[in-house]
Amino acid sequence: MTKNEKYKWALKQIRAQVSRHTDVIAILANTSAILRQHLEFFWVGFYLYRQDQLILGPFQGTPACVNIQMGQGVCGTSAARREAILVPDVHAFPGHIACDPHSKSELVAPLLDADGNLRAVLDADSDQLAAFDAVDLEYFNQIAILLREIWTKN
Ligand code: SME
Repeated sequence: MTKNEKYKWALKQIRAQVSRHTDVIAILANTSAILRQHLEFFWVGFYLYRQDQLILGPFQGTPACVNIQMGQGVCGTSAARREAILVPDVHAFPGHIACDPHSKSELVAPLLDADGNLRAVLDADSDQLAAFDAVDLEYFNQIAILLREIWTKN
């Protein structure tokens, strides 16, 4: 299966979660499991934006850092800029937070609600260098759009 096909399957299942359920944590938990299952990420999950910082949310992978300040690391930078960041080599990214020494490349996309407010970030890590490309970036942005409606359901 090509990466495009894997993402298409994942998107279909994430869409089903969004249409069937209302609880944000349940939807994000299953979304991280779906992404891990189809794309085989080393780590994939969410940091939630609460009280002007990022707090670890539902994820799949090894235990991770719990608090990330805005502007700190890849996640905090993506959250502060409200834009996706693709990092081919995390050691070359100033201020990268090493939750797990196996992480070598990373992709983070901000999740905004329908009013444009920051709600979370979606973070994926790989144990390979330059594991993510424009295809991953495109689908992460699509996932962010898909998840935009979940914040107003609760
Ligand atoms: N490396 C991230 C921290 C989160 S973990 O990778 C799960 C960063 O620099 O934001």
